[in-house]
Amino acid sequence: MLLLQRVAVSGLRVSRFDSYARFVVPKLYPHVFFTSNSSHLQRRTPHFSNGSTPSGYWAAAGALLGVGAVLAYGNHREKAAEESLPMYTKAEVSYHRSLEKRVWVTLGNEVFDVTDFVAIHPGGPSKLMLAAGGPLEPFWALYAVHNQPHVRELLAQYKIGELSPDEEKSSDLVSTDPFANDPPRHPALQINSQKPFNAEPPLELLGESYITPNPLFFTRNHLPVPTLDPTTYQLQVEGPPGGQTLKLSLDDLRRFPKHQVTVTLQCAGNRRSEMAQIKSVKGLNWGAGAISTAQWGGARLRDVLIQAGHSPYGPEAHVCFEGLDFDPTGTAYGASIPLARAMDPESDVLLAYEMNGQPLPPDHGFPVRVVVPGVVGARHVKWLGKVSISSEESPSHWQRRDYKGFSPSVDWDTVDFDSAPAIQELPVQSVITEPREGQTIEPGEVTVKGYAWSGGGRAIIRVDVSLDGGLTWQVATLEGEAQAPRRAWAWRLWHLTASVPPGKKGLNIICKAVDDGYNVQPDTVAPIWNLRGVLSNAWHRVHVQVVP
Ligand code: MTE
Repeated sequence: MLLLQRVAVSGLRVSRFDSYARFVVPKLYPHVFFTSNSSHLQRRTPHFSNGSTPSGYWAAAGALLGVGAVLAYGNHREKAAEESLPMYTKAEVSYHRSLEKRVWVTLGNEVFDVTDFVAIHPGGPSKLMLAAGGPLEPFWALYAVHNQPHVRELLAQYKIGELSPDEEKSSDLVSTDPFANDPPRHPALQINSQKPFNAEPPLELLGESYITPNPLFFTRNHLPVPTLDPTTYQLQVEGPPGGQTLKLSLDDLRRFPKHQVTVTLQCAGNRRSEMAQIKSVKGLNWGAGAISTAQWGGARLRDVLIQAGHSPYGPEAHVCFEGLDFDPTGTAYGASIPLARAMDPESDVLLAYEMNGQPLPPDHGFPVRVVVPGVVGARHVKWLGKVSISSEESPSHWQRRDYKGFSPSVDWDTVDFDSAPAIQELPVQSVITEPREGQTIEPGEVTVKGYAWSGGGRAIIRVDVSLDGGLTWQVATLEGEAQAPRRAWAWRLWHLTASVPPGKKGLNIICKAVDDGYNVQPDTVAPIWNLRGVLSNAWHRVHVQVVP
């Protein structure tokens, strides 16, 4: 009986019961669990004014729980009891992701309530809030400055408990879910669809680094991520008529001269959500983060095609790519680009096996993907299985029946996909990454930051910023080095620090970029609306309030 009671004591301080206890027990014993004047949840060891063992308390709770449920919690619960620390499930931690519900994070198996630290986080409150309700590790891995003893000491002050180790068990279940083998993802990614996985980084992180860290690179998958073994992987490259098909292993590909190119990849649907505000469109509701930049390393497609027997000066044709990701009917993702682009040594088209010096991550095409600088993301075929040359474009749905632009007058009853060319090069684009829409800024000065990019290797020559809805403009500073003409494959980050006009209650901030063909962005989105919500590149607008 004594033993049972001890287990019951430890059971009281544990996770699943904890949720229950948080709502039920305080009603029975309101003085036990929370203190209203404290910034932290207090440790949940019950304290009674006379210092006695609260046996009635445990008995009541034990009865409520049921002995079987209490016994289910094993030794680690006892350990937690010895340390007087409550245990929480990941689900419980994830509930605490706002200032109203308090902000909890985990590091290892420790749980912290950092609500009071949010406002004084040196990197800014919004960056810490990205980790709210989940683990810190994925953020500390990217921002290594955190991994220092004094930061750990500081964090220790906010510790409120530990993670329940029970949860890992659920992953043992056998699953028929085709997405069951999809890789883990970074928690900062803003998810547009879980299956297939489509997600974009938050703008304040995207605009922070010229090279997007691999875990934050936007992901656009149409199908489950295939699990491919790099030791048996083979890329089929069809030769010319009568020729042979090359079968290249990863090592074979590595034997071609290695090229490294820094390329910005943008989805045709980037900023679709702005088009959707005009009139509904079909497609994922992308914000302005369906764009990212990486240094890609691999073999030139041109070198591989020549090795397969194709002439660099062949007739007009298309290079067709097939992925190794299949839909339930066995159809693979596919796309094509003109042969002339593939064969042009200055076009830098790669069969990439590295992303920022690492093997490609599973979401981004491991082990090999196509990278077509200056061209819409849809043609950068991931998990590449086959390359062939054809007088026709790829027959794939995604080449022929998607990723095309139409007049705003065209709707789903009248659309003729054969009447429009497949999108290849993208138009000039720019976006404000900071401040964010709806943010409140201090009077005095404001720093506006963002990205600008244009398709086809056209360099960004200027970004104009307005603080007054387009009445007056200032020229932003372009960061980094000037870009090579015709091969400006990557974006330019930019910034402008400007005075906030005194007395202003709010600012309508706008940016617009100019490329070296003097192409500029259209001022509004309505005239470029199209039923698929692609090619959304109107002036980017952000409204902020100014602290009075
Ligand atoms: N390749 C395959 N095999 N399957 C896909 O679903 N999506 C395409 C392209 N290549 C896709 C693919 C689209 S639409 C885009 S925008 C880019 O991959 C996105 O690349 P990323 O996920 O590495 O950012």
